[in-house]
Amino acid sequence: MFLKNKWWAIAESQMINKKPVALRRLGMDLVLWRDSSGKVVCQAQHCPHRGASLALGKVVDGCLQCPYHGFRFDNQGNCTLMPCEGEKAHISSKMRVKPYEVKEAHGLVWLWWGEAQSEQSQIPWFEELQNHPKRWASGMMSWNVPFTRAVESLLIDLHHFVFAHHNVARLSGFGSSTLLDPFDAKVEGEVIHTWGRIRPQKSDDQNSNHQNSNHPTLSQSMSVANFRHRLHFPNLAIFDFGFGGIKLFVVATPIDEENTWAYFRYYTPFSMPWVSQLISRAFVWVELNLVQPDDYKILMSTRPRKSGLKVNNFVRADKGIVLWHKLYEQAQTISKSENT
Ligand code: FES
Ligand SMILES: [Fe+2]
Repeated sequence: MFLKNKWWAIAESQMINKKPVALRRLGMDLVLWRDSSGKVVCQAQHCPHRGASLALGKVVDGCLQCPYHGFRFDNQGNCTLMPCEGEKAHISSKMRVKPYEVKEAHGLVWLWWGEAQSEQSQIPWFEELQNHPKRWASGMMSWNVPFTRAVESLLIDLHHFVFAHHNVARLSGFGSSTLLDPFDAKVEGEVIHTWGRIRPQKSDDQNSNHQNSNHPTLSQSMSVANFRHRLHFPNLAIFDFGFGGIKLFVVATPIDEENTWAYFRYYTPFSMPWVSQLISRAFVWVELNLVQPDDYKILMSTRPRKSGLKVNNFVRADKGIVLWHKLYEQAQTISKSENT
């Protein structure tokens, strides 16, 4: 079951043009397209006539035309034309595609999943990314991994890095940074904060050596990462590694019970936008080609496939994940009670 009464990011804005796009999110087959005013329209994907995918159709005169018999549907989902019946034919109210409430904000398309809103609730976002000039690049994946496991790995967990991504860790100088210490996490409203340091185990001994602690070698300081992470419950996260102002933004949305769509951006703060773009793209390339394949292989191997408070043996370093699962259990209880 998916959490209700939330805005879920379901696509990047630039994915949606005039040509309809098929998407599966929150267990629903959807079609997204732009009407004549350029507004994104989101509707049930299959034609109410005889079930063809409207994503194979095209936009004609501001309406979505089915590829099978050419029935047309406006941006409210009403059928406006059944060519085989003639222009004056009566159109049954059943000949309708279900519309969904969507909005565009921050370069993403957001779907409202829940009761119709009497008052528009705000789309969640991180203030520091507000009005951020386009000094970022993005990537996305569709994974055969349930939402809970994807959130744990992509949106919270840092202590897997040196093991799950040992090649990248070694190349980036973090090959021995296995210890999360200090580390803590707390919840404030809808936000989980985690912060701390990842460092090599042996820096304990080195710190006891007066000379070394005052003058850490370059490789010692390079292998220590101070991080600050926030997760806007349930599915938006931002990582700040305290390195050159580079930030990683990640969002995960269920495709259905077994699959998850993940989208991420690297923000880099260089004054020349093209430099930022170039460096951000390089980070995205590394994520997509060298980092995420490691995660995917491991996540595909996890059992049970769905995670939760009772199916793991959490340790101190998992505190952020435990806090997330607690919020998730509470939110699921509320969603279930709203369903009954
Ligand atoms: S199935 Fe869409 S018009 Fe016939
Ligand atoms: Fe990872």
